[in-house]
Amino acid sequence: MQPLGAERRSEAHAVHVALGTELPLNQGLSTYYPNLHRDWCWGEAENAASLAAVRASLPDGATPQRLLVIGAGACRLAYDLHQAWRPALTVALDFNPLFLLAAARIFAGEALELYEFPIAPKGIAEHAVLRRHQAPARPLPGLQLLLADATAPPFLPGRFDAVLTPWYIDVAGEPVSRLLARINAQLAPGGGWIHHGSLAFTDAAPEEASSLEEQLAALPAHGFQSTHVGESRQPYLGSPASRHARIESIVTIAARKVRDVPVPAPGRELPEWIHRTDLPVPALAEYRAQALSTRVYAFLLAMIDGERSIRDMARLMEQQKLMPAEDAVPAIRRFLARALQDPHRRPQL
Ligand SMILES: C[S@@+](CC[C@H](N)C(=O)[O-])C[C@H]1O[C@@H](n2cnc3c(N)ncnc32)[C@H](O)[C@@H]1O
Repeated sequence: MQPLGAERRSEAHAVHVALGTELPLNQGLSTYYPNLHRDWCWGEAENAASLAAVRASLPDGATPQRLLVIGAGACRLAYDLHQAWRPALTVALDFNPLFLLAAARIFAGEALELYEFPIAPKGIAEHAVLRRHQAPARPLPGLQLLLADATAPPFLPGRFDAVLTPWYIDVAGEPVSRLLARINAQLAPGGGWIHHGSLAFTDAAPEEASSLEEQLAALPAHGFQSTHVGESRQPYLGSPASRHARIESIVTIAARKVRDVPVPAPGRELPEWIHRTDLPVPALAEYRAQALSTRVYAFLLAMIDGERSIRDMARLMEQQKLMPAEDAVPAIRRFLARALQDPHRRPQL
């Protein structure tokens, strides 16, 4: 992270606070690390299939001049589209500095070496494989990497004529309706949005995990008209060093902006009393439940003195009115067994 000056922690922290960026819990530096190796090392067939699917979503000759790729990851698809469509500007946006630093070096013509750690190594030699990452050619002028949070994008409205979200909308950590309203604002009149990837929505609230049919039906409400829907079965993250690979039924949707819609406020939706320090914090049911389980958890651990049995502890829990003794016995047994097997994870009662 040295090129970002992240080692000068106080400055990095000040920037972090000023930008107000809060990372979603499901995103980290190495969350999509295998994608980096696929993009620039062994993934030629997978990369070519993605490029072909996205190119097929626009009619021949309708290539964008100003393209924004949101959640660009290690940037291979952004690079391939930039080389193929030759727009004046391609902005590859992601908030993972590891990916963007790797892409910056690769685009500068450096051969980057990084270890791959396959999910299911084929043999002993494949547990850590030193990979060399290189672009097929230097990118054409106009390919820009941008470290930014897509929920607070640093653009004036209407600056792009295409926005691509590859493998993004289902992991974005915000409802698709908010994301689409923001994408709408970034597009010039008549511009297009392209989705490419999964619609898995594994971390979304059930009411926000829309099916393909629901996604398409909701487009007009967000100011879009669908112009293309393609599906293709593709191998996914099939590292030659791994026994594990996926087959994905990938969806590519293209939609044209037909009208403006209200723009949501930037940033993730957090209540006012989290942003401000002077407001009372409401006693929500979620916090009460956590408080009770934390109390029980602390009480249980404090009872372990090397003398007491599970039955003794269950009696004490009953006296404290935390649980009837007959419920406490199996709960304490399960708690102690789990804490022993996995001491780093907080066991549940
Ligand atoms: C499933 S990965 C897909 C990466 C890449 N498009 C690919 O297909 O390999 C999702 C990407 O979105 C990025 N991302 C998630 N939330 C983001 C946000 N709020 N702002 C910017 N990037 C984000 C992650 O860092 C990650 O690179």
